Amino acid sequence: MGVGYRWFGRPLLRFQDSEKAHGRSLSLLRFASGNPLTRLFLKMLYKPRISLPIKVFGHQYTHPFGLAAGMDKNAKALIGWETTGLAFVEIGGVTMLEQGGNPKPRMFRAPHAQALVNRMGFNNDGSEKIRDSLTRHFKRHGRPGIPLWVNLGKSKITPLDEAHLDYGATLERLWDLCDVFVINVSSPNTPNLRELQTDEGLNRILHHCQTINDNIAAANGSKRKPLLVKVAPDMTDEQLVHIANTAKQTGADGIVLSNTTIERPTPNHPRDKSVFVEQGGLSGMPLKERSTAMIRTVRTAIGPDWPIIGVGGVSNAQDAWEKIEAGATLVQAYSGFVFEGPALSKQIVHGLAKRLKASKHTSMAEVVGSKTT
Ligand SMILES: Cc1cc2nc3c(=O)[nH]c(=O)nc-3n(C[C@H](O)[C@H](O)[C@H](O)COP(=O)(O)O)c2cc1C
Repeated sequence: MGVGYRWFGRPLLRFQDSEKAHGRSLSLLRFASGNPLTRLFLKMLYKPRISLPIKVFGHQYTHPFGLAAGMDKNAKALIGWETTGLAFVEIGGVTMLEQGGNPKPRMFRAPHAQALVNRMGFNNDGSEKIRDSLTRHFKRHGRPGIPLWVNLGKSKITPLDEAHLDYGATLERLWDLCDVFVINVSSPNTPNLRELQTDEGLNRILHHCQTINDNIAAANGSKRKPLLVKVAPDMTDEQLVHIANTAKQTGADGIVLSNTTIERPTPNHPRDKSVFVEQGGLSGMPLKERSTAMIRTVRTAIGPDWPIIGVGGVSNAQDAWEKIEAGATLVQAYSGFVFEGPALSKQIVHGLAKRLKASKHTSMAEVVGSKTT
């Protein structure tokens, strides 16, 4: 953790509503990265000085660590994320329609367990506004220098049997602006969304999105974009392997493991206890072991070639290293940034480089899936 964040940032968080604190941090990052002088300062403080190149989805990533979905739903601080040294950023969840999400409060911090509970409910500006603001941003500042991913959610009012049209519309609107698309059928905060994790639900969404993807690519004379699926941790290993197989057979280019959980650990502190009774998805430290186990299960069942993205409870280099050893090609975090602050990328990348040097491997690609038993 950065010294500034440990001494000033984290204590201040205790007195702020979680969602307000999140909004302020995002605005601060956007502001600080908008000025050349403060941008240079951010870079000096937080950008990793080491690169750990890894190629996936046709792109060269400078290292395997990126930002998970939900942190920057409306793509407000793109320059900031790149400046602080992330290798890729996932914006969203973006839904076809603009929506306000669930009533507040809807985000809660359990500081002793280093966990969050949220029931945001896909609050976002919607695919049209986000398309327009990304277009304006790219005109003014150019495209980001790192791959831009987008998480696709379903609008709350769209019935489940029309979900494919909702995902497809957002894909179409953002196709030329984003590099990788993640179909999120696993948020616990949109009623019945997880029912789309069935063969029928997934097949319908993936077929529809693949058709749109292929058609736009053909019309542009360019390659189709990678489409991934993000799933929930609340299922048996048999169900997980079944979903991964369905996704792979339907042409998904990889899988993101995992979204937040509806399970709760036993709280060790009264403050955490009051957070764990809140409805919603739990993220952070208590999710770490489960998401790593999911990565290992899918990597073992599916083999070495299909990319897995590991997310859940990553708050230091060892957590990221374990997910990569278990089979993740890339790793993401959300809660880790809340508890560790913006120095997290540098700590993780430098720590991964140290571990790589001390290992028998010569590249991060060799580490992927090297410890699946
Ligand atoms: C407040 C909040 C909002 C989130 N919103 C989304 C979302 O819109 N789409 C999504 O796929 N995941 C969303 N997530 C889940 C994260 O992307 C990630 O999968 C999960 O938090 C586990 O990672 P972590 O332990 O590093 O936080 C959200 C998480 C939090 C805490």
